[in-house]
Amino acid sequence: MISQKAKYIWALGGGKGGIGKSLIVGGIGIHIAQLGKKVILVDTDLGGPNLHTCLGLPLPRVTLADFIKRRVEDLKDVVSETGFTNLGLISGAQEFLASANPKYTQKLRLLRKIQSLDIDYLILDLGSGTSFNILDFFLVSDNGILIMVPEPTSVENTYRFIKSAFYRRLRRIASYREIKELLDLALDQRNVRGIRTPRDLIEEIERMDGQIGRTLRQEAFKFRPNLIINQVRTDKDIELGFSVKSICSQHLGIQLDYLGYIYYDDCVWHSVRKKRPLLLEYPESKASIGIKMITNNLLRNEQLKP
Ligand SMILES: Nc1ncnc2c1ncn2[C@@H]1O[C@H](COP(=O)(O)OP(=O)(O)OP(=O)(O)O)[C@@H](O)[C@H]1O
Ligand SMILES: [Mg+2]
Repeated sequence: MISQKAKYIWALGGGKGGIGKSLIVGGIGIHIAQLGKKVILVDTDLGGPNLHTCLGLPLPRVTLADFIKRRVEDLKDVVSETGFTNLGLISGAQEFLASANPKYTQKLRLLRKIQSLDIDYLILDLGSGTSFNILDFFLVSDNGILIMVPEPTSVENTYRFIKSAFYRRLRRIASYREIKELLDLALDQRNVRGIRTPRDLIEEIERMDGQIGRTLRQEAFKFRPNLIINQVRTDKDIELGFSVKSICSQHLGIQLDYLGYIYYDDCVWHSVRKKRPLLLEYPESKASIGIKMITNNLLRNEQLKP
């Protein structure tokens, strides 16, 4: 009998740039590969792909765009070797994402094709921002993971990301024109209907139509982003994760899983300077240990899912 392999898509993003997304994607990928699972990392960052640097590699010559434009026939040829057993890298589909403005379903189809390769995990580095491309990849994934650093701007961006992703998700499932209009209205923070949060929005929809309201409330419940805090220096930084979790639940009506934190660690820039992966150069550093613990939490959560 042919065994059906479990395949998961994890997507890491965060509103802000330069907060450690690529470092963490690279680290998680290396750790899972070391555990004997087959992993492909995908750099979907349009602005400045740098995941390869975190793996100590030059910019890959072939990208997903070559496959989409049929310059490369076989998807396998788009996967660059990384020098690590079980770990491959696909450089972003820059042209596909930037110019073609692909629909959600096209992105989904592309991911499914990549998933059809013989792998266990597909991990996406989403880059910074809250563009539709980023939100869609976040929503398509089995685990959407947000990186935040303990700074007010990053905290603000995290809430913005969560709200934008949630509204985008609701927009996809809401078929009625009135609801879509309400969703568009809700995106404006100062809207006249006084909808400030996803919770307000669902209550407003419930007043309009109880049945649709209930469906959307269930959808809200299923939307469970994960949070990682990077570059922590104090206990207060670590506790911030619990505050964000409780604010999300109380004010936004969204359940967030706080996966863990990674210490600010000089080993990171030493490894960046050497262009060597952190987990290989400094496997026992505080930052490496944080990344490994978070990966183990993610793997454990995956096992607990129904
Ligand atoms: N835990 C940490 N300790 C110390 N420095 C860190 C840590 N995490 C990240 N950095 C520093 O932040 C820099 C940016 O990291 P990285 O490139 O992974 O961020 P990014 O979010 O992918 O950025 P971009 O949005 O530009 O893609 C790294 O070069 C590193 O020097
Ligand atoms: Mg990056």
